[in-house]
Parts: sequence; C-alpha cells; structure tokens
Amino acid sequence: METKILKINPLNPEIDIIAEGAKYIRMGKLVAFPTETVYGLGANGLDEEAVKNIFTAKGRPQDNPLILHVSSIDEVKPLVKSIPKEAEILMKEFWPGPLTIIFERSSIVPDIITAGLDTVAIRMPNHPVALELIGASKVPIAAPSANTSGKPSPTLAEHVIEDLYGKIELVLDGGPTGVGLESTVLDLTGDIPTILRPGGITLEDIRHFIPNVELDLSIISSNEKIIPKSPGQKYRHYAPKAEMLVFTGEVENIVRVIKSMAKEHVRAGKRVGIMATDETENKYTEGVVISVGSRKRAGTIARNLFTTLREFDEIGVDIILSEGVEMSHIGTAIMNRLKKASGGNIIKV
Ligand code: TXA
Ligand code: MG
Repeated sequence: METKILKINPLNPEIDIIAEGAKYIRMGKLVAFPTETVYGLGANGLDEEAVKNIFTAKGRPQDNPLILHVSSIDEVKPLVKSIPKEAEILMKEFWPGPLTIIFERSSIVPDIITAGLDTVAIRMPNHPVALELIGASKVPIAAPSANTSGKPSPTLAEHVIEDLYGKIELVLDGGPTGVGLESTVLDLTGDIPTILRPGGITLEDIRHFIPNVELDLSIISSNEKIIPKSPGQKYRHYAPKAEMLVFTGEVENIVRVIKSMAKEHVRAGKRVGIMATDETENKYTEGVVISVGSRKRAGTIARNLFTTLREFDEIGVDIILSEGVEMSHIGTAIMNRLKKASGGNIIKV
C-alpha cells in the first residue's frame, strides 16, 4: 500500500489538507495525525472494518481496547450510558487535554473498540490538527498511538513513518508533539475514581477536583503479579531493543552505581547507553551518554523520553542504564513508562 505523507501547519492547519484527511477517514482508511501527547493512528470509530485495520497495521493484541477521540464535550453523550458528575467537572476543567475518561458505553460503540468490555475510553485532544480532523470527519476517531505495538510511542511523524510506512494510507506531519507521553487514563465506572495509566494530567491535578481519586495498584506496586485494570498496561511496552535497567534513589547514588555498572559492561565488550539528565550527564566518562532533559523541569524529560529510547535503538547499544526520577506529578508517568520499557527492571540504590 502507498503511504501518502502531507505536511500540515500544527497551529493553523490548512483547510484543504484537513478536508483530505477527513475524506480518508470517512472512506474507512487509516490516517496518522499529531495530538498534544503523541501521534495517533486514526480510523472512523464507528466503522468496524476500518478499526480492524488499526489492529493489523500496529500488530496490536485484539484484547486491547481503543480510545475514541472527540472534538467537543457534546459528542460524548451518544457514546455513553450516562455522564457522571465527576466527568462533567473534569471535562470542563481539562478538555481539550491529555485526559482520557472511561465511561459506561452506549450500544453505538462497536465491540472492537472496547475489546468486548462494557466501558469506553474517550478523550478530546488539545491539538488544532486533531480537533479539526475530528470535526471535519463528523465521526469519533478511534486512535491508539501510531507505533508498532510494543515500541516507544511516536512523538515525531518520522517515528510513525519508521514503524508504519506501507501499512497505512496517510500521515499528517505536524512536527513534534508537546507532552511526549500518552494521556492519563481515568476510570470513573467503579466505586473509586482510579487512574489506570498516569499521564500529562497528574494525580495531583485531578485530586484538586476529585479528592478521593487513586492510582491503580499496578502503577505504584513493584509486584509484577498485580494485574493492571487497563488491558494495555499489562504488556511490555515503549520498549527499546536493548536490555534496560532503571535506577532510583538519591541522585548521587544513582550516578555512582551507573558509572560502576557501565565500566563493568564496557570491560565485557558491551556497547552501553546511559540515559542521563542535564544535571548529571557530565559525570559519566564511559558509554554513549544522552541527557533526556532537566530534573528541574520534568516536563522536558516526558517530552524527550520516547525519542531518546528510539535514539539508543538507532545507535545500537546492547544495554541501557537509565536514571529514574521522583514518583510525583509528571514523574509518576515517566516512571510508569520506564518501568514498562525496562520490563520491570527498576533497581532501588
Ligand atoms: O495520548 C493518548 O492517549 C494517545 C493519543 C493518540 O490520543 N493514544 C493512546 O492510545 O495512547 P493507546 O491505544 O496506545 O492506549 C490506550 C490505553 C490502553 O492502555 C488501553 O488498554 C486503555 O487505554 N483503554 C482503552 N479503553 C479502555 C477501557 N474501556 N477500559 C480500560 N482501559 C482502556
Ligand atoms: Mg500505545
């Protein structure tokens, strides 16, 4: 299949390009587009056949449900059974933005979207291209991250092309995404509002409005036996090709341990990658050192994380030794992705 690639202005999307994207969506084709978090791989969310092709293109397990993307709060109503009070508050506060809310589904939502669950995930992305594409398509757009399943999510159109060229019909290239990590997934269908996947809207942000919100146990616990409530969270994910170890604790200790492990591996003839931070990158003398961002502005770490993991793949290291960050605010989402990327190899030093 031929993949068409169109550049689009991320702030002021050209009307004719949006119209073309919307035409593709309505014809049941796959369109990758930028959102404020990562690139999405979009299809008409009400077209069962089109949505099936998303799973094929990504190699995504069938039991992993998709998020429906809308361009206004009004579009939620037909897709859900009811809108809880908490959802109303949060949609008003955080939409458009990186918050996905799980509702009880209505019968117009195809089974393939929800992977047979009686709930549906919905979000309104904060990106002009995404909003205008959904608006012009006049349907909710189903969109997982536009990467091959298991690989780091795409924060550049180049990443989408690397993974999906020849497998999808259209890529709208709007340049780099903003947040860099996928949206927060919040379940409002149980007794206690629960974050199933941490993201750009943090626990602390939500707690401000919904005081009893909690993180799903699988996010906090290091016990791999606790099964996440979100199907997508149970797979190794965001993973670079190399083996990866993540170190947490006091920064000086992290640096000391990584330095000594790097030395050992280099001596054994391995190519070592070190994922450092602006504050520590000069302290390492061995291996390929890449700073992922500043510890003082964890948002920069979130934004660069997936690109940096892909860079290590390109360089072709055998092992990645990564610094961890503090588990608060956006740091919770960063540590969640590092945990998945490393297959749970988190070491407290
Ligand atoms: O930022 C994002 O959310 C990006 C952009 C493109 O919007 N999308 C994204 O989609 O990350 P995806 O498919 O890669 O991740 C969706 C996550 C998965 O972990 C999935 O299991 C979970 O949301 N999810 C979807 N529907 C669910 C449901 N009904 N119940 C529980 N978890 C659900
Ligand atoms: Mg994904």
